[in-house]
Amino acid sequence: MQVRVQQGSITDIAADALVVNLFEGITEPGGATGAVNQALGGLIARLIADGDIKGKHGEVTVLHPAGGIKAKRVAVVGLGKSGDFSMARVRQAAGAAARALAKRGANSLATIVHGAGIGGLDPAAAAQATTEGTLLALFETDQYKTADREPSTLTECILVERDAKKAALFTDAAVRGAAAARATNFARTLQNEPPNQLTPTKFAERAAAMGREQGIETTVLGPAEIARLGMGALQSVAKGSQEPAQVVVMQWNGAKSGPRIGLIGKGVTFDSGGLSLKTGDGMMQMKYDMSGAAGVLGAMQLLATLKAPVRVLGVMPLTENLPSGTATRPGDVVTALNGKTIEILNTDAEGRLILADALAYAAKEGCDILLDAATLTGACAVALGPVSTGVMGNDQGVVDAVLAAGVRTGEPMWQLPMFREYRELLKSDIADVKNIGGREGGAITAAKFLEEFVGETRWAHLDIAPTAWADDAKPWMAKGPTGVPTRTLVEAVLALSA
Ligand code: BES
Ligand code: MN
Ligand code: ZN
Repeated sequence: MQVRVQQGSITDIAADALVVNLFEGITEPGGATGAVNQALGGLIARLIADGDIKGKHGEVTVLHPAGGIKAKRVAVVGLGKSGDFSMARVRQAAGAAARALAKRGANSLATIVHGAGIGGLDPAAAAQATTEGTLLALFETDQYKTADREPSTLTECILVERDAKKAALFTDAAVRGAAAARATNFARTLQNEPPNQLTPTKFAERAAAMGREQGIETTVLGPAEIARLGMGALQSVAKGSQEPAQVVVMQWNGAKSGPRIGLIGKGVTFDSGGLSLKTGDGMMQMKYDMSGAAGVLGAMQLLATLKAPVRVLGVMPLTENLPSGTATRPGDVVTALNGKTIEILNTDAEGRLILADALAYAAKEGCDILLDAATLTGACAVALGPVSTGVMGNDQGVVDAVLAAGVRTGEPMWQLPMFREYRELLKSDIADVKNIGGREGGAITAAKFLEEFVGETRWAHLDIAPTAWADDAKPWMAKGPTGVPTRTLVEAVLALSA
């Protein structure tokens, strides 16, 4: 998909489709929508009056006007009630229009920037969001289909702006938006891979290939280095599988000074639960248990594409969690990289084990701030529903930076408490800590477990179990992998480095 900015009036553009918008309740469209309406002899206003167009959030009406403009189609996308409008809705409106047009076989679209100047929204941010929404919406999960596949032919997206000054601003915004969407879609491509295709080794190969392309220093640690470093918790998870564990370590040094930020992502390429075996139903989605690592990898790609002036260490521990004669037993005690001993009472609480070593590794490497992302607990999805990522940490400043970043990216984030009393639930009779804290407050006790391995480092944890994949399609998004929290990690890194 090519994205470019063109200065001029949208009515003059000879694209396959024009995209304009409408707030709910408006009867006489203004701005660019008004201009198109006028060029079409009042067609849009008539459709509103007749109730065919309502302007509801996510509604897309595609018209084939006979003359009046050069474009073949006009898509009118609903923005919903003006009081509910937000940057997130800019992405969603752009996405809904793009998906509707792609489905109809359009090759190119020319769109106005939704929300530029409305309700105090920053025009450049709106241009970035319009671009992001368009490219995120076109991602499909049909790679392994040999039939019934209808690849999108939508290859060109033109952002149209009348005002020359704004158009100049939009060029850079469109580049950033396209980069953000591509990095997110890269993460989604990895998430979508079946677990027999994307083993820990294959994930590491894909990461190394991306690192080479983007000029990111990349090292892959195999089983021997993992043992030498003393990553006993990661080893204990990998023991049940024939596939060797890997740790991808990436460095992006876009600045000489400033804080060094560690991004750590859970990379369980398949989680059966191990000997604490999940049910068949519970396993069906567990190829997605590498979504944290995919998000970190996407974030590394985006930071490099943007040539971001930041210092980032990416750490992605990768393994399968399978039962076998060599698997870890409930009751086993292992030692993590920081020397702490862990009593493993449930082998299905494996994400925190591999993160323990990865967090301790990043802290030891001298990171000033750590952010981790993980599909860590079903409890977090129960608490927050399929809407919001759970955020927890040991430093309110870092947590606030993540929450604010999520507002900007349209990836909802919500903080859960970390009172010291929760730590009591992890007391082991025989080791420093046990790996489960009981059913209640499961998202929090998992985060409390992680806290044991960050030392004094400022840290925030993103539990993306609720948001890593979507069970239902939206008008602006395919169902399946979401790429969360690729864009939020990048926004947070930029803010924390400034
Ligand atoms: N990967 C799962 C968490 C998960 C479950 C993510 C469902 C998304 C959807 C994790 O490894 C896990 O199994 N956690 C257990 C922890 C429990 C044993 C303390 C859980 O949530 O049940
Ligand atoms: Mn598990
Ligand atoms: Zn897991």
